[in-house]
Amino acid sequence: MNVEPSAMSKAQAKEELARLDAEIARHNRLYHDDDAPEIDDGTYDALRRRFNAIAELFPDVSEDLKANKSVGARGTRGFEEVRHSRRMLSLANAFTDEDVHGFVEAVRKYLALAPGTAVRIVAEPKMDGLSMSLRYERGLLVRAVTRGDGDVGEDVTANVRGIADVPQDIRAATTLPVLEVRGEVYMTKANFFALNEALEAAGKPVKANPRNTAAGSLRQRDPAVTASRKLNFMAYGWGEVSEFASRTQTGMLEFLGKAGFKTNSLTVAFDDVDLILENHRGISAIRASLPYDIDGVVYKVDDLDLQDRLGALSNTPRWAVAHKFDAEEATTVLRDIEIQVGRTGALSPVARLEPVTVGGVVVSNVTLHNEEYIAGIDPDGEAIRTGGDLRVGDTVIVYRSGDVIPKIKDLVPEKRPTGARPYVFPTNCPVCGSDAVREANKSGKIDSVRRCTGGITCSAQGVEKLKYFVSREAFDIDGLGEKQIEYFFNDAELPVREPADIFTLRARNEQAVKPINSREGFGTSSEAKLLDAIDERRDIKLDRFIVALGIRHVGQSTSKTLARHYRSLDAFLEAAHSVRADAQGSAATEMTALPDIGKAVVESLAGFFSNQRNADAVARLAAELRVSDAEQPAAAQSPVSGLTVVFTGSLARMSRDEAKAMAENLGAKVSGSISAKTNLLVAGPGAGSKLKKADELGIETISEDEWFARVGAG
Ligand code: IVH
Repeated sequence: MNVEPSAMSKAQAKEELARLDAEIARHNRLYHDDDAPEIDDGTYDALRRRFNAIAELFPDVSEDLKANKSVGARGTRGFEEVRHSRRMLSLANAFTDEDVHGFVEAVRKYLALAPGTAVRIVAEPKMDGLSMSLRYERGLLVRAVTRGDGDVGEDVTANVRGIADVPQDIRAATTLPVLEVRGEVYMTKANFFALNEALEAAGKPVKANPRNTAAGSLRQRDPAVTASRKLNFMAYGWGEVSEFASRTQTGMLEFLGKAGFKTNSLTVAFDDVDLILENHRGISAIRASLPYDIDGVVYKVDDLDLQDRLGALSNTPRWAVAHKFDAEEATTVLRDIEIQVGRTGALSPVARLEPVTVGGVVVSNVTLHNEEYIAGIDPDGEAIRTGGDLRVGDTVIVYRSGDVIPKIKDLVPEKRPTGARPYVFPTNCPVCGSDAVREANKSGKIDSVRRCTGGITCSAQGVEKLKYFVSREAFDIDGLGEKQIEYFFNDAELPVREPADIFTLRARNEQAVKPINSREGFGTSSEAKLLDAIDERRDIKLDRFIVALGIRHVGQSTSKTLARHYRSLDAFLEAAHSVRADAQGSAATEMTALPDIGKAVVESLAGFFSNQRNADAVARLAAELRVSDAEQPAAAQSPVSGLTVVFTGSLARMSRDEAKAMAENLGAKVSGSISAKTNLLVAGPGAGSKLKKADELGIETISEDEWFARVGAG
């Protein structure tokens, strides 16, 4: 929505605020928790500004929204805000040689120097980290503050004290009342890679790039974590200074170096623009081999008196400019579009590219997200790129954002080969051939992702679906976990490719040349245990059976509702097949009327069962099982309702879990220990201390058979 806030209706404002609130929260999370921002600060600030502008006009609508409660710079993590004594400015950018000539000309012009007059310029590599202001009073570090919005930053002193490059005491060099040293906190490439290796080994998500990692590391609540991240600091400037040691940039850098700060050894001063440009090319060439990331070269007028005269615009000084390196882009040819099927059945298009180097990394694949992205039109009908849709054979411009994920920026329409045809997104799963559909989500919007309806029968989804099938929420088969599923899924002799295969495993094993007990990691007893555990689950409750099918939108609670309503597997299957046959019919109406069941569930069920292979797999599974009818909700009154019951000892007719569920269905509360509140103890053979304690407290104790008799389940 691009409506001006002042032109918005209240309903529009509400919708847009909710959208912005979610978007801002997402970027806060990416920035603070994941150290992986997707947008730059300017874009983020624009989101916030739009939120604030609308919120101001519609205060009652925005009151409860999260973004209304956090302020600025992607929220704060509880660091104290500190106003800088001198603003921390940003830098204007120069991209071309002409821009650099323009910068020097503008300096001359502003200072009214004759054209051609030499102006000494210092060139410093532009460190790609985050700027920091370190305040020393009488030679001791008293405070470290981030840049923040330039006026107000965050006090991160405790964390910065853990950075080895930041001296705590510079009294040997200076005891000035105030010296604010400014520079860049960064992480070396080596430390970054080592950290990622350690994270990967620990099974944790890896970080995107050194800069974001440095930023995230600095904003940790625990200074010990920051210290463990091995950050560095390089000085290139200053804020408030009681007395200058020199009146040139180079002199000041020399002074800071002597005081114990690292300064960049690649810093050089020039009087001639051509030499500046040559230096830029030289640094660009060695960029990849430097131990840290840089993203350009900063030029500063060396003479501090001239710097003072030049002053600053609102955000950037007139005496400095950042000469950026060429954007990391490359053109290449889109050779093919392949569809990958994920574990949820999502069809993800991937561009296969003629391999090309972008910023030192070879790129041969990039994600194309979904069919709208390929067509070049977003869900609001807006163009995603100027060049239109992407076709196999197109020449595309690839770039790497944040130095990590390669993306397609655009295509070069003039280079399209004649005869290149628009890409037709498949409507069948390339792996199993099942229909692939775009469903409506719960709020009725058509999903941009197309999904395979093959479910358990699609091998791309198969392993994952089977893992879910045996998981706790579903069949909960002891000794058959993710590892074992992967093992059998790929087994040549005893493959488990669909749920029914699990239950035919015993019979197949008996005929096998290499039975389970002869396999590595299995023995006779683990084989027996596994097959027994499987047999134990041949008796399964209807809701577990339904949830185990892993149908989208049909989770635990939906499965319970369906089971309770249809009672038996036959009735449920009949209803499912009826909604498949007629999505508007009476069966669909009946289902949609159930609590918390909407169109999305009904459509998803219909989609699942309209795939014959799913229907067949379900039938094969059902043939292996005894699916018990769902229990009716507890009668309002039962002989045990309201009682607190404890089960102890071994039970012969039911498992402990089953006993618990049964008692709860009958309105009793089940507790694990005996107390004065216990009303009834059900004790099987082997009961020990609980029986004794119940005795002492005079609590009624009955056997398992007596329990069944009492609740009338004889
Ligand atoms: S001078 C008033 N010098 O670049 C001038 N900045 O894009 C303020 N940076 O916020 C900055 N290396 O984080 C300066 N040698 C250098 C730099 C440098 C990296 C960063 C700094 C600043 C950003 C502006």
